[in-house]
Amino acid sequence: MYLYASVYTTERAMKSIQLKTIPLLAGCAVLLAGCAPQEQEAASAGDAAYNTSLNVQELMALVLEPASDILWDSGGWVVDASGYEELYPTTDDGWEYVRAQAAIVVESGNMLALPGRAADDDAWMIYSEGLSEAGILAMEAAAAQNKEDFFQAGAQLYSVCTACHQAYNPEINNRFTSGTDAD
Ligand code: HEC
Repeated sequence: MYLYASVYTTERAMKSIQLKTIPLLAGCAVLLAGCAPQEQEAASAGDAAYNTSLNVQELMALVLEPASDILWDSGGWVVDASGYEELYPTTDDGWEYVRAQAAIVVESGNMLALPGRAADDDAWMIYSEGLSEAGILAMEAAAAQNKEDFFQAGAQLYSVCTACHQAYNPEINNRFTSGTDAD
């Protein structure tokens, strides 16, 4: 268990270095090729390597939102007619299941950052990275079965979603908020 935790931390550190280095290197390569370091031009180079037939809207609706909804529905408490109810998983399998949903969130950050999906090489990348970071926190909390940390990770996740929508498609937030409330 101890070993697992330290390996995991190293991986995280490496990942955050990579995340900062890769866009920089990509920017240099484009400059050397004599192109403007602009978003859409760079995208064509990646099309051969990645299958991005799912657009951002589909990725949101079919991959990211279902996973995130499970996370949000698995944290906190509700009070209803039958009384006070905790939403957190109650079994090891239950926590493993939400941990797997958190992994989808982590990888969604990468999927959004792919050429052909990324709207720019700037704030979009920061929000995508933030998505992965919130997902990692949720994975760690689920592995530790730490309810408080899991709840905080869910709150952080929510703020990344709304911040990116606010920046790139503010109209989504209205739909998004009312959708979440209705659930
Ligand atoms: C990096 C930016 C970014 C992040 C982070 C992000 N979104 Fe989005 N999202 C968008 C954009 C842009 C659209 C509009 C896509 C379109 O319609 O072309 C969108 C649209 C959506 C939609 C509407 C899809 C539809 O069917 O029209 C949902 C739902 C959604 N996002 C959920 C989420 C959730 C949940 C999260 C966080 C867990 C999240 N998004 C994080 C950029 C982001």
